[in-house]
Amino acid sequence: AIQTLATVADARAFVAAERAAGRRIALVPTMGALHEGHLELVRVAREHADTVVASVFVNPMQFGPHEDLDRYPRSPEADTQQLIVLGAEAVFMPEPDEMYPHGRSSTVVTAGHLGTVLEGRSRPGHFDGVLTVVTKLLSIVQPEVAVFGEKDAQQLFLVRRMVDDLNLPVEVVGVPTVREPDGLALSSRNALLRGGERQDALVLSRALEAAGAASDRGVEAMLAAAQSVFQADSGAQLDYLAVVDPATFTPASADHRGRVQVLVAARVGTVRLIDNLITTVP
Ligand code: PAJ
Repeated sequence: AIQTLATVADARAFVAAERAAGRRIALVPTMGALHEGHLELVRVAREHADTVVASVFVNPMQFGPHEDLDRYPRSPEADTQQLIVLGAEAVFMPEPDEMYPHGRSSTVVTAGHLGTVLEGRSRPGHFDGVLTVVTKLLSIVQPEVAVFGEKDAQQLFLVRRMVDDLNLPVEVVGVPTVREPDGLALSSRNALLRGGERQDALVLSRALEAAGAASDRGVEAMLAAAQSVFQADSGAQLDYLAVVDPATFTPASADHRGRVQVLVAARVGTVRLIDNLITTVP
């Protein structure tokens, strides 16, 4: 049986008992509408811990005023069922009032400059909202391990940086992006795609694939290859395309060699999607 925890007090009591029994705890933070990508995180969490706690909370603080908070997909019953099938021990599903009893949080964990570039440039305040809620979740659950997807590359980078900067006592584990057979990265927002948009959304993974195929010709060639995929396709509006050094999350120079991360964000209809690829420039 799974424990469904709705309050901070219940979550604290649950994890206190688990810890008293000598169990190692892994946390998988999510916003629900669980798909195979989330489920893979739960499986990886299981490899690192005795007790797997998933959280399902659509965090208002990380949505901008004109973003899709209201239409963000929600499926708490189906989410709980999937977590039961995977054998998670608990799911923390608080209401917004439980997480933010004073309304807006006065105290904010800020991502700093790296929270204002790329995804953060298009979504001002987003990463401060993410880091604040992740800090709260880590503080409530106090897991030994926290599991995040590489799909949200900048988020994973900033969570790792925060844990390092603030000496948080948790090990962050990253999980490679889970994709549909045709390459589309799984995302809760894929459920918002209508009609031909599902096909149009493939431009993101195709652009990354083209960039990857150009990697032996260097960073500029990778960018050009990805750009041309977007130019040939009118079904999506490119937001940004970048090649960064995964060690610093800053743009890779034209003569960069070694590991690079190609990042893409685009709008398909009204749905904003992101994807990325980690590869090497020989
Ligand atoms: P959400 O978008 O629900 O994603 C929860 C976790 O699942 C994140 O770590 C994300 O990177 C991972 N994930 C999503 N799609 C994936 C895929 N296709 N393959 C692998 N992992 C995938 O990210 C958030 O929620 C929130 O910002 C959160 C961290 C929960 C804070 O509110």
